Amino acid sequence: MTLPSLWQVRHPHHPRPGRSPEGTWDTVVVGAGITGATTALLLARAGQRVLLLEAREVGAGSTGRSTAKLSLLQGTRLSQLARRHGPTVVGHYLDLHREGQAWLTRFADEHGVAVQRRPAYTFAATGNGEARARAELWVAQEAGLAVEWVDQPPLPFESRGAVRLADQAQLDPMELLGALIAQGEDHGVTLVEGARVRKVRGDGPIQVETTAGTARAAHVVLATNMPILDRGGFFARAKPSRSYALAFRSPELPDGMYLSADTPTVSLRDTPAGHGEGALLLIGGHGHGTGRSAPTSRHLDQLRRWTHEHYPAAEEVAAWSAQDFQTHHGLPYIGPLLPGSDILVAGGYAKWGITGGAGAAVALAARVLGGHVPWADALQPWSRQELSGTPSAALINAEVGVELVRGWVRPLRRGGQGRLVCSHLGGILTWNDAEQSWDCPLHGSRFDPDGEVLEGPAVCPVRRRLPV
Ligand SMILES: Cc1cc2nc3c(=O)[nH]c(=O)nc-3n(C[C@H](O)[C@H](O)[C@H](O)COP(=O)(O)OP(=O)(O)OC[C@H]3O[C@@H](n4cnc5c(N)ncnc54)[C@H](O)[C@@H]3O)c2cc1C
Ligand code: FES
Repeated sequence: MTLPSLWQVRHPHHPRPGRSPEGTWDTVVVGAGITGATTALLLARAGQRVLLLEAREVGAGSTGRSTAKLSLLQGTRLSQLARRHGPTVVGHYLDLHREGQAWLTRFADEHGVAVQRRPAYTFAATGNGEARARAELWVAQEAGLAVEWVDQPPLPFESRGAVRLADQAQLDPMELLGALIAQGEDHGVTLVEGARVRKVRGDGPIQVETTAGTARAAHVVLATNMPILDRGGFFARAKPSRSYALAFRSPELPDGMYLSADTPTVSLRDTPAGHGEGALLLIGGHGHGTGRSAPTSRHLDQLRRWTHEHYPAAEEVAAWSAQDFQTHHGLPYIGPLLPGSDILVAGGYAKWGITGGAGAAVALAARVLGGHVPWADALQPWSRQELSGTPSAALINAEVGVELVRGWVRPLRRGGQGRLVCSHLGGILTWNDAEQSWDCPLHGSRFDPDGEVLEGPAVCPVRRRLPV
């Protein structure tokens, strides 16, 4: 059981019974979030026979739980990337998000998905935050974004100023996914839900083994947020983190999309009236490493306190959390699982994967069809930028090593109850009281109270209890 997001409650799931993945396809796309749904649609529009496999249901992953801002101003992300990789890579990163933003807003306009145009702000609450926000202003200006500094952003509390970028967008991610899937199916995409991919093997054709049968294809796209296959070692080169979101009825609403430059991060947006509710205030943030904070419910409580301090009349209507991955070099992965492979991957969007996922889909579909998107080169796994992040990958692995040791020592010390062991690579699971799940601190797999997989890279249920 996980807490459903506001969007998931608004768009109940409609099962499609009696479908099988068996057969031969041009491309099998794994994962029905923004990356997979968009890739499947693009390939089907180009005339391919496409199978879209989903372990749970459409939007069950991060997309259906996102705050869904489509913004090129992304907190302090550009200045972080500039420090690490320099201005050329920042330019390619922005090209990815520009492509995704333009593609999505055009698709939404053409298919009746509601989009609200809003300015985006990176705001500062402290002196440190102001320094970070001003660094972002400078990098964003150098990269050609029409950003400006505002001393007093229109917030109902004091701040130390903000970077502002006009004419960005926000939407309901489940409404968007519904339209992408409907268009995909109109173009011949076969969607099979409840089919978890367990293995991908062979080539010409590649065999995709799922809990519902085996599919064969010339190309496979793993759009599972973090690649589920251990080949390529992506799980060891990215940090999973969870963040929280709450929706409130409130007489006061932000007139834009805000993200703080300070930590812990706070995100604000509104959502217009609809689905029997008036307009709502959405507050998010307070992220932490998956499986590395207990009790998790305290993060929701901190965000509740923050909201009541700044929006005293706010009345809660929904609370949930979601997961995303930050790679060791800070850039998403978009390209082959291994050099030359026909298995492609995309993920590691560091909480900016709505525009990032749509942009990635454009690059992945072009690659499957034999084309080439120049800005995607810098974002390929195994690129120069990726290899430049190797020391950070070692650091992530060192942290994982510490967690592993802690995890194995802790149950022995406490004795008595034993611990659940992750079916991926044996991490000791921790209880997530906010979402009622067992979470792995190593690579972010999550399991329901019965041990069934909620999120990968694990593909099998938890079966073992560590003896004490
Ligand atoms: C709190 C929060 C707020 C965010 N807000 C924003 C925002 O405002 N703007 C923005 O751009 N981004 C935002 N993001 C990031 C964004 O939501 C994600 O990066 C994006 O949704 C990732 O999309 P995806 O399609 O790659 O993955 P997902 O949406 O996670 O989809 C992957 C799918 O693959 C399926 N799957 C996994 N394993 C298997 C398997 N073995 N077999 C079959 N299927 C499988 C899953 O069930 C899932 O449905 C936010 C993230 C968080 C955590
Ligand atoms: S996710 Fe890798 S060991 Fe748990």
